[in-house]
Amino acid sequence: MKFLSSLILIPILTFTILDKLFYTWLPSNYIFDPKTLQLLVNETLEQFPNNNSTEIMIQLTSKLQNQYSKNLINDLSFDQGWVYNNAGGAMGTMFILHASISEYLIFFGTAIGTEGHTGVHFADDYFTILTGQQNAAYSGALKPEIYYPGDQHHLKKGHVKQYSMPSESFALELAQGWIPAMLPFGFLDTISSTLDFQTFYYTAFYTGKDMIKNLLNGKF
Ligand SMILES: *[C@@H]1O[C@H](CO)[C@@H](O)[C@H](O)[C@H]1NC(C)=O
Ligand SMILES: *[C@@H]1O[C@H](CO)[C@@H](O)[C@H](O)[C@H]1NC(C)=O
Ligand SMILES: *[C@@H]1O[C@H](CO)[C@@H](O)[C@H](O)[C@H]1NC(C)=O
Repeated sequence: MKFLSSLILIPILTFTILDKLFYTWLPSNYIFDPKTLQLLVNETLEQFPNNNSTEIMIQLTSKLQNQYSKNLINDLSFDQGWVYNNAGGAMGTMFILHASISEYLIFFGTAIGTEGHTGVHFADDYFTILTGQQNAAYSGALKPEIYYPGDQHHLKKGHVKQYSMPSESFALELAQGWIPAMLPFGFLDTISSTLDFQTFYYTAFYTGKDMIKNLLNGKF
């Protein structure tokens, strides 16, 4: 009986501590600022009124590297590093610019279009549209929230929405919080549905590699 009740206490205690840290110590590790990211996105969009996703992402990566250093932002490539992301019934593709324990910064989008569940996350999520659009809605909403290029969709920690993106929509996504706690959401569709273990392997590889690299450089 005593053993059982302590088994129940462990997750509750862990959650309470992590939640407390989320509002106190964890933010002291953040290096990215959502407003700065949005400003860099807006500057880039002004430079490319043709809305070419490739050119926008190349230019934005270089701006991010100038702002935050090449140590923290990976070089963008279109030949390798892109992996599918299946989560919450939605499918897209992503490129990791930065991954650490408390933050990730990625390009996320879809050439085809997608729709699904945002997931419940132990992190704040800032989704800045580069091309196309994102629609989102809370369970009680009868009209969509619509985000266009330059708009930033802030999905607060613990909030959930349904979302969709039409074809050729891409975004710069920043997450700040307990990133490892978000990973099961990104992996469970592989185990329970797609069985695409190659994608699973590459996602784990790129994420883990960057997290360890940043941790060794003192970025938690
Ligand atoms: C970026 O552009 C969007 C859409 O035009 C605008 O709403 C937002 O205020 C701009 N933000 C910044 C930081 O420049
Ligand atoms: C580019 O996207 C903007 C919306 O952000 C739109 O107003 C404009 O017409 C688009 N331009 C082209 C060339 O498609
Ligand atoms: C977008 O830019 C890339 C790189 O400059 C170029 O190869 C591609 O043809 C462009 N796409 C369109 C539709 O203009």
